[in-house]
Amino acid sequence: VLTKLRIAIDGPAAAGKSTVAKIVAGKLSYLYIDTGAMYRSLTYKALKSDVDLHDQTELTKLLETTKIELEPSDKGQLVYLDGEDVTDEIRQSKVTNSVSHVAVHSQVREEMVKRQQKLASEGGVVMDGRDIGTHVIPDAEVKVFLLASVEERAQRRHDENTAKGFPSDLEKLKEEIALRDKIDSEREVAPLKKADDAFEIDTTSLNISEVVDRIMSLVERIG
Ligand code: CDP
Ligand code: CDP
Repeated sequence: VLTKLRIAIDGPAAAGKSTVAKIVAGKLSYLYIDTGAMYRSLTYKALKSDVDLHDQTELTKLLETTKIELEPSDKGQLVYLDGEDVTDEIRQSKVTNSVSHVAVHSQVREEMVKRQQKLASEGGVVMDGRDIGTHVIPDAEVKVFLLASVEERAQRRHDENTAKGFPSDLEKLKEEIALRDKIDSEREVAPLKKADDAFEIDTTSLNISEVVDRIMSLVERIG
Protein backbone atom coordinates (compact mmCIF):
# COMPACT_ATOMS: atom_id res chain seq x y z
CA VAL A 1 0.00 0.00 0.00
CA LEU A 2 1.34 3.41 -0.97
CA THR A 3 1.33 5.54 2.16
CA LYS A 4 0.10 9.09 1.94
CA LEU A 5 3.30 11.04 1.94
CA ARG A 6 3.94 14.65 2.83
CA ILE A 7 6.06 16.39 0.22
CA ALA A 8 7.65 19.72 1.13
CA ILE A 9 8.92 21.99 -1.65
CA ASP A 10 10.80 25.14 -0.71
CA GLY A 11 12.94 27.67 -2.52
CA PRO A 12 13.22 31.30 -3.61
CA ALA A 13 10.76 33.22 -5.79
CA ALA A 14 10.08 31.82 -9.28
CA ALA A 15 12.24 28.73 -8.79
CA GLY A 16 9.30 26.73 -10.15
CA LYS A 17 7.86 25.50 -6.85
CA SER A 18 4.17 25.93 -7.59
CA THR A 19 4.44 24.72 -11.18
CA VAL A 20 6.11 21.44 -10.28
CA ALA A 21 4.22 21.01 -6.99
CA LYS A 22 0.91 21.11 -8.88
CA ILE A 23 2.09 18.51 -11.41
CA VAL A 24 3.47 16.19 -8.72
CA ALA A 25 0.23 16.53 -6.71
CA GLY A 26 -1.78 15.73 -9.85
CA LYS A 27 0.27 12.61 -10.61
CA LEU A 28 -0.19 11.28 -7.07
CA SER A 29 -3.79 12.55 -6.59
CA TYR A 30 -2.54 14.52 -3.62
CA LEU A 31 -3.69 17.90 -2.38
CA TYR A 32 -1.55 20.85 -3.47
CA ILE A 33 -1.18 23.57 -0.82
CA ASP A 34 0.33 26.92 -1.81
CA THR A 35 1.37 28.53 1.48
CA GLY A 36 2.56 31.68 -0.30
CA ALA A 37 -1.08 32.27 -1.27
CA MET A 38 -1.95 32.43 2.43
CA TYR A 39 0.63 35.16 3.14
CA ARG A 40 -0.45 36.93 -0.05
CA SER A 41 -4.11 36.84 1.00
CA LEU A 42 -3.39 38.44 4.37
CA THR A 43 -1.21 41.07 2.66
CA TYR A 44 -3.97 41.86 0.16
CA LYS A 45 -6.50 42.26 2.96
CA ALA A 46 -4.14 44.43 5.03
CA LEU A 47 -3.48 46.71 2.05
CA LYS A 48 -7.21 47.02 1.40
CA SER A 49 -8.00 47.68 5.06
CA ASP A 50 -5.19 50.24 5.44
CA VAL A 51 -3.48 48.18 8.13
CA ASP A 52 0.18 49.12 8.60
CA LEU A 53 2.25 46.17 7.35
CA HIS A 54 4.84 46.83 10.05
CA ASP A 55 2.28 46.67 12.87
CA GLN A 56 2.45 43.07 14.05
CA THR A 57 -0.36 43.44 16.62
CA GLU A 58 -2.81 44.82 14.07
CA LEU A 59 -1.86 42.23 11.44
CA THR A 60 -2.24 39.39 13.91
CA LYS A 61 -5.64 40.69 14.94
CA LEU A 62 -6.65 40.96 11.30
CA LEU A 63 -5.53 37.37 10.62
CA GLU A 64 -7.57 36.02 13.54
CA THR A 65 -10.78 37.08 11.80
CA THR A 66 -9.62 36.11 8.32
CA LYS A 67 -10.69 32.97 6.52
CA ILE A 68 -8.36 31.72 3.81
CA GLU A 69 -9.44 28.72 1.74
CA LEU A 70 -7.46 26.95 -0.97
CA GLU A 71 -9.61 24.98 -3.37
CA PRO A 72 -8.47 22.82 -6.24
CA SER A 73 -10.34 23.38 -9.54
CA ASP A 74 -9.97 22.64 -13.27
CA LYS A 75 -8.36 26.07 -13.66
CA GLY A 76 -5.83 25.36 -10.91
CA GLN A 77 -5.91 26.26 -7.28
CA LEU A 78 -8.48 28.91 -6.35
CA VAL A 79 -7.91 31.15 -3.35
CA TYR A 80 -10.86 32.43 -1.31
CA LEU A 81 -10.44 35.25 1.19
CA ASP A 82 -13.42 35.51 3.56
CA GLY A 83 -15.45 33.71 0.91
CA GLU A 84 -14.39 35.94 -2.00
CA ASP A 85 -12.33 34.63 -4.93
CA VAL A 86 -9.02 36.54 -4.85
CA THR A 87 -6.98 34.11 -6.97
CA ASP A 88 -5.88 36.81 -9.44
CA GLU A 89 -5.86 39.80 -7.07
CA ILE A 90 -3.21 38.31 -4.77
CA ARG A 91 -0.73 38.13 -7.71
CA GLN A 92 -0.77 41.92 -8.26
CA SER A 93 2.69 43.43 -8.04
CA LYS A 94 1.62 45.63 -5.13
CA VAL A 95 0.92 42.45 -3.14
CA THR A 96 4.04 40.66 -4.44
CA ASN A 97 6.27 43.52 -3.36
CA SER A 98 4.65 43.86 0.09
CA VAL A 99 4.18 40.25 1.16
CA SER A 100 7.71 39.71 2.51
CA HIS A 101 7.16 42.54 5.00
CA VAL A 102 4.06 40.80 6.34
CA ALA A 103 5.83 37.43 6.47
CA VAL A 104 8.56 38.64 8.87
CA HIS A 105 6.23 38.82 11.88
CA SER A 106 6.57 35.91 14.29
CA GLN A 107 2.92 35.95 15.47
CA VAL A 108 1.63 36.03 11.91
CA ARG A 109 3.85 33.06 11.02
CA GLU A 110 2.81 31.15 14.12
CA GLU A 111 -0.86 31.32 13.13
CA MET A 112 -0.14 30.53 9.46
CA VAL A 113 1.99 27.53 10.41
CA LYS A 114 -0.77 26.24 12.70
CA ARG A 115 -3.26 26.39 9.81
CA GLN A 116 -0.79 24.77 7.41
CA GLN A 117 0.02 21.93 9.80
CA LYS A 118 -3.69 21.21 10.12
CA LEU A 119 -4.02 21.03 6.32
CA ALA A 120 -1.07 18.62 6.13
CA SER A 121 -2.04 16.47 9.09
CA GLU A 122 -3.58 13.62 7.12
CA GLY A 123 -0.77 13.35 4.60
CA GLY A 124 -1.21 13.06 0.86
CA VAL A 125 -0.07 16.65 0.37
CA VAL A 126 2.40 18.60 -1.67
CA MET A 127 3.05 21.88 0.14
CA ASP A 128 5.23 24.67 -1.23
CA GLY A 129 6.68 27.73 0.47
CA ARG A 130 9.82 28.92 2.20
CA ASP A 131 9.81 27.12 5.57
CA ILE A 132 7.88 23.91 4.88
CA GLY A 133 10.80 21.50 5.27
CA THR A 134 12.36 23.48 8.12
CA HIS A 135 9.33 24.44 10.24
CA VAL A 136 5.89 23.50 8.96
CA ILE A 137 6.52 19.78 8.28
CA PRO A 138 10.04 19.15 9.59
CA ASP A 139 9.33 15.41 9.46
CA ALA A 140 8.04 15.40 5.86
CA GLU A 141 8.86 12.15 4.06
CA VAL A 142 10.11 14.04 0.98
CA LYS A 143 11.82 17.43 1.10
CA VAL A 144 12.92 19.32 -1.97
CA PHE A 145 14.73 22.65 -2.25
CA LEU A 146 14.48 24.24 -5.70
CA LEU A 147 17.03 26.81 -6.86
CA ALA A 148 17.77 28.78 -10.00
CA SER A 149 19.88 31.84 -10.78
CA VAL A 150 18.17 35.18 -10.24
CA GLU A 151 18.59 35.97 -13.97
CA GLU A 152 16.76 32.78 -14.93
CA ARG A 153 14.00 33.37 -12.39
CA ALA A 154 13.43 36.96 -13.50
CA GLN A 155 13.35 35.76 -17.12
CA ARG A 156 10.67 33.18 -16.22
CA ARG A 157 8.43 35.83 -14.65
CA HIS A 158 9.12 38.12 -17.62
CA ASP A 159 8.06 35.39 -20.05
CA GLU A 160 4.89 34.76 -18.04
CA ASN A 161 3.99 38.46 -18.13
CA THR A 162 4.73 38.76 -21.83
CA ALA A 163 2.65 35.68 -22.63
CA LYS A 164 -0.29 37.26 -20.79
CA GLY A 165 0.21 40.54 -22.63
CA PHE A 166 1.18 42.36 -19.43
CA PRO A 167 3.85 45.07 -19.42
CA SER A 168 7.10 43.72 -17.99
CA ASP A 169 10.53 45.10 -17.18
CA LEU A 170 13.18 42.40 -16.86
CA GLU A 171 15.67 44.51 -14.90
CA LYS A 172 12.99 45.63 -12.45
CA LEU A 173 11.84 42.04 -11.98
CA LYS A 174 15.39 41.00 -11.24
CA GLU A 175 15.70 43.68 -8.55
CA GLU A 176 12.33 42.85 -7.01
CA ILE A 177 13.07 39.14 -6.86
CA ALA A 178 16.53 39.72 -5.37
CA LEU A 179 15.09 42.04 -2.72
CA ARG A 180 12.32 39.59 -1.77
CA ASP A 181 14.86 36.74 -1.51
CA LYS A 182 17.02 38.94 0.72
CA ILE A 183 14.16 39.80 3.11
CA ASP A 184 12.96 36.18 3.14
CA SER A 185 16.45 34.79 3.81
CA GLU A 186 17.50 37.33 6.41
CA ARG A 187 14.40 37.45 8.60
CA GLU A 188 14.76 36.14 12.13
CA VAL A 189 11.82 33.76 12.18
CA ALA A 190 11.83 30.73 9.87
CA PRO A 191 13.97 32.27 7.12
CA LEU A 192 14.16 30.83 3.62
CA LYS A 193 16.78 28.11 4.02
CA LYS A 194 17.37 24.61 2.73
CA ALA A 195 16.60 21.98 5.37
CA ASP A 196 19.70 19.89 6.06
CA ASP A 197 17.93 16.78 4.80
CA ALA A 198 16.30 18.38 1.74
CA PHE A 199 17.21 17.27 -1.78
CA GLU A 200 18.49 20.30 -3.68
CA ILE A 201 17.68 20.74 -7.36
CA ASP A 202 19.20 23.59 -9.35
CA THR A 203 16.57 24.15 -12.05
CA THR A 204 18.46 26.89 -13.94
CA SER A 205 18.98 24.71 -16.99
CA LEU A 206 16.27 22.11 -16.42
CA ASN A 207 12.81 22.11 -17.94
CA ILE A 208 9.66 21.49 -15.93
CA SER A 209 9.36 17.80 -16.71
CA GLU A 210 12.99 17.16 -15.79
CA VAL A 211 12.37 18.70 -12.37
CA VAL A 212 9.12 16.74 -11.95
CA ASP A 213 10.89 13.49 -12.89
CA ARG A 214 13.55 14.04 -10.26
CA ILE A 215 10.96 14.65 -7.57
CA MET A 216 8.90 11.64 -8.67
CA SER A 217 11.96 9.40 -8.42
CA LEU A 218 12.51 10.59 -4.84
CA VAL A 219 8.86 9.81 -4.09
CA GLU A 220 9.08 6.36 -5.66
CA ARG A 221 12.15 5.56 -3.61
CA ILE A 222 10.16 6.18 -0.43
CA GLY A 223 6.53 5.35 -1.29
O1 CDP B 1 5.32 32.40 -6.04
P1 CDP B 1 6.34 33.32 -5.46
O2 CDP B 1 7.65 32.64 -5.30
O3 CDP B 1 6.44 34.62 -6.14
O4 CDP B 1 5.91 33.68 -3.97
P2 CDP B 1 4.97 32.89 -2.98
O5 CDP B 1 5.36 31.49 -2.84
O6 CDP B 1 3.57 33.21 -3.36
O7 CDP B 1 5.33 33.60 -1.60
C1 CDP B 1 5.16 34.99 -1.41
C2 CDP B 1 5.90 35.43 -0.17
O8 CDP B 1 5.26 34.89 0.98
C3 CDP B 1 7.35 35.02 -0.05
O9 CDP B 1 8.23 35.89 -0.73
C4 CDP B 1 7.56 35.05 1.47
O10 CDP B 1 7.80 36.36 1.93
C5 CDP B 1 6.21 34.60 1.99
N1 CDP B 1 6.16 33.18 2.33
C6 CDP B 1 6.72 32.77 3.54
O11 CDP B 1 7.30 33.59 4.24
N2 CDP B 1 6.62 31.48 3.93
C7 CDP B 1 6.00 30.57 3.17
N3 CDP B 1 5.91 29.31 3.60
C8 CDP B 1 5.46 30.95 1.94
C9 CDP B 1 5.56 32.26 1.53
O1 CDP C 1 6.24 28.95 -7.30
P1 CDP C 1 7.48 29.64 -7.75
O2 CDP C 1 7.44 31.10 -7.49
O3 CDP C 1 8.73 29.01 -7.23
O4 CDP C 1 7.59 29.48 -9.31
P2 CDP C 1 6.41 29.32 -10.38
O5 CDP C 1 5.30 30.24 -10.10
O6 CDP C 1 6.11 27.87 -10.50
O7 CDP C 1 7.05 29.92 -11.69
C1 CDP C 1 8.03 29.34 -12.40
C2 CDP C 1 7.93 29.74 -13.87
O8 CDP C 1 9.07 29.21 -14.48
C3 CDP C 1 6.72 29.18 -14.58
O9 CDP C 1 6.33 30.07 -15.60
C4 CDP C 1 7.24 27.89 -15.19
O10 CDP C 1 6.60 27.56 -16.39
C5 CDP C 1 8.70 28.21 -15.46
N1 CDP C 1 9.67 27.09 -15.29
C6 CDP C 1 9.65 26.24 -14.21
O11 CDP C 1 8.75 26.38 -13.37
N2 CDP C 1 10.55 25.23 -14.05
C7 CDP C 1 11.53 25.07 -14.94
N3 CDP C 1 12.41 24.11 -14.76
C8 CDP C 1 11.59 25.93 -16.03
C9 CDP C 1 10.65 26.95 -16.18
